[in-house]
Amino acid sequence: MILEPPTELTHAFVEKHPSILPPAHVFTVASGKGGVGKTNVVANLAAALTMMKKRVMVLDGDLGLANVDLFLGVHPKSTLADFFAGRKGLADIITPSHLGIMLLPAGSGIQALTALTDEQKIAFLTELDALTHELDFVLVDTGAGISDTVTYFATGAHEIIIVVTPEPSSLTDAYALVKVLASSYGEKRFWILANNVGGEREGRRVYETLSRTALHFLNTSLDFLGWIPKDPELARAVSRCQLVVTIAQNSPSGQAFGIVAEKLLQIAGDRARVKGNLQFFLARLLAAVREGK
Ligand SMILES: Nc1ncnc2c1ncn2[C@@H]1O[C@H](COP(=O)(O)OP(=O)(O)OP(=O)(O)O)[C@@H](O)[C@H]1O
Ligand SMILES: [Mg+2]
Repeated sequence: MILEPPTELTHAFVEKHPSILPPAHVFTVASGKGGVGKTNVVANLAAALTMMKKRVMVLDGDLGLANVDLFLGVHPKSTLADFFAGRKGLADIITPSHLGIMLLPAGSGIQALTALTDEQKIAFLTELDALTHELDFVLVDTGAGISDTVTYFATGAHEIIIVVTPEPSSLTDAYALVKVLASSYGEKRFWILANNVGGEREGRRVYETLSRTALHFLNTSLDFLGWIPKDPELARAVSRCQLVVTIAQNSPSGQAFGIVAEKLLQIAGDRARVKGNLQFFLARLLAAVREGK
């Protein structure tokens, strides 16, 4: 499902017409294990990037238990369920939320994306592509587990972020997810974000444990995105349906999200310099549709 590598001609064309490079950089956040902090990561990174004057959209890809809307302080009237039922266009359901972050909310009663017809998928991707041209970043939240929907959003993104905590079950589930994405879908790049850790040392230890196993058994090297400390301020923000980066920017987790957001800017900047990297969301997902994945 990976696109053909760009030819010299493509490079030359892209250099002359830089506008065809999609501006939005798509990151999908997944974990395997549930409850490790994915939705907090998505919402706080979206807020941190918005505070850095970037245009951000959050796509709630947790089709079963959608809840990013709570973190972003909105009660969407329409959701992806309305889109897939043919009642609304994507532009009608996109909801401006906290700090101006655009939200594509999910709702209950949505089939797994892969159970949708090709026509539905293509309509979704075409409309999504049109929306993302006005944006700098799209962050996709996903549900727990290794469902087809999780792999669909992960393989469609430019970058995959795996959130992992020091708990052994989080490490084993993260490894299982990396294994499926690497061996069944040919994914090669994974950014590991250690969450709920005691400090940088523990964050790096979590990364190194996973990284060693992936290298040994999958021949896949993992990248370290960063770490977010276990922080009562974050838990307090969650209990008030608020974001720690907004209400306690200088708290340990607020600062850590700022550092990770800077890293996302750097990753996106590096990609923009690689001319001809056309593996963007729409193209990759359309390729997947054509192959019937
Ligand atoms: N760094 C942290 N410090 C303190 N508490 C945290 C931290 N990260 C997450 N939590 C707590 O963990 C809980 C789960 O977080 P969150 O909902 O973001 O996880 P999730 O991975 O999205 O879960 P699900 O798989 O169910 O979608 C929250 O109640 C939050 O308070
Ligand atoms: Mg969640």
